[in-house]
Amino acid sequence: MRRRSGGDRGEDLLGVEGGAHEHARIHRGKAQRARQPVQGAEAFGAHVAFHGPVLTQLPRLAEATRLRLFDLLESDAPAPALRGSDSYVGGVAEGPLLGGNLSVFSRLMCTPCMPDLEGAVLLLEDQGERPYRLDRIWTHLELAGVFARVRGIVLGTFTACEEAGAAAITIHGRTREQRYSKAADWDLIGRVAAERGIPVVGNGDILTHYEARARMARSGVTSVMLARGALIKPWLFREIREGRSWEPTPDERFAVVWRFVELLREHFGEDERGRRRALVFLPWHLNFFCRYRPLPEAEFEERSREHPLLQSRLPVTEASSPLERLLGDARPDTHEAFARELIESGSKEEALERALRLAAGLSLDGADAELRVAASQVAG
Ligand SMILES: Cc1cc2nc3c(=O)[nH]c(=O)nc-3n(C[C@H](O)[C@H](O)[C@H](O)COP(=O)(O)O)c2cc1C
Repeated sequence: MRRRSGGDRGEDLLGVEGGAHEHARIHRGKAQRARQPVQGAEAFGAHVAFHGPVLTQLPRLAEATRLRLFDLLESDAPAPALRGSDSYVGGVAEGPLLGGNLSVFSRLMCTPCMPDLEGAVLLLEDQGERPYRLDRIWTHLELAGVFARVRGIVLGTFTACEEAGAAAITIHGRTREQRYSKAADWDLIGRVAAERGIPVVGNGDILTHYEARARMARSGVTSVMLARGALIKPWLFREIREGRSWEPTPDERFAVVWRFVELLREHFGEDERGRRRALVFLPWHLNFFCRYRPLPEAEFEERSREHPLLQSRLPVTEASSPLERLLGDARPDTHEAFARELIESGSKEEALERALRLAAGLSLDGADAELRVAASQVAG
């Protein structure tokens, strides 16, 4: 390997002054600035772009990566197999390996330089790029149908987000395809947290303060993010802060529901239009609220270590009063009727009276709520 300066360095490193590459102009550059062939259709086909580490990165490469790189450059033998460390989606895929730097690759869209992705395995990585930009590019590629055309996706390194200005990263330990079918992978969250120099917020399946505590300890994350758990138990934040469960009585839970109605009124207004808007959201929220059940640490902590409670079928507790039966009723018709009574009420007392009348008329069949939340109920 000889040493030259500027753009020639890549050619040196690749050793491509003859042989198979004789007729191709080889461009090679920094991951986020790789010079891609963009001169137009005539030039396309005479340009080959490589994606890989630049010289300045060599000292920072893992030993296995460095050896593979030199193997590639110095041997005529086929490249040794890539050794991945994590599989997000299982399976075997075979196809030409295309791609490279995510930002650069996305700029090839709708140009003659975009390679044919049909049946390919797509490799993408990016360094020093801000997370929101990565998200934007990724969404663009997805909307353009790129991911639907390829057989597999290989993710390289997405490092140095923090250098690009991220103050923290939140990780939900699931793939999009699996949705909520499996427990979130907190070991994976832990591995990412260990590699990062900025705070990592873990996310997935937190319903109780002891699950938050255990998962934080296991993964080493700085804090947790709540989603479905907070919809079922809006007081979950307080439980985690205080490190103890709050097991509200039916009256206290009713007060929480009423507070929510007050906030809806504040937000949407109390006129007819505001009421109609509130009636869209309230039944949807009642469908989460009704899944609440007391989960004392002494009884459920061990079980939650094996499988998250939010993802579990838990025994239905016998309602001790008509109000409790109403609050735990999982039927959409009940949520609609309950929401109407709440929105029509002028005060908490009136709402309670109306709720009790509604509860007295409810049949008992099919009212049980499973704790699990159907994926179809969740937007994200
Ligand atoms: C109602 C609802 C809406 C969501 N909307 C989004 C969304 O727009 N974008 C997103 O990335 N995740 C979204 N999510 C996913 C959550 O942010 C969170 O990552 C996921 O639910 C895992 O946390 P959990 O197990 O505590 O629910 C949504 C979740 C819920 C329940």
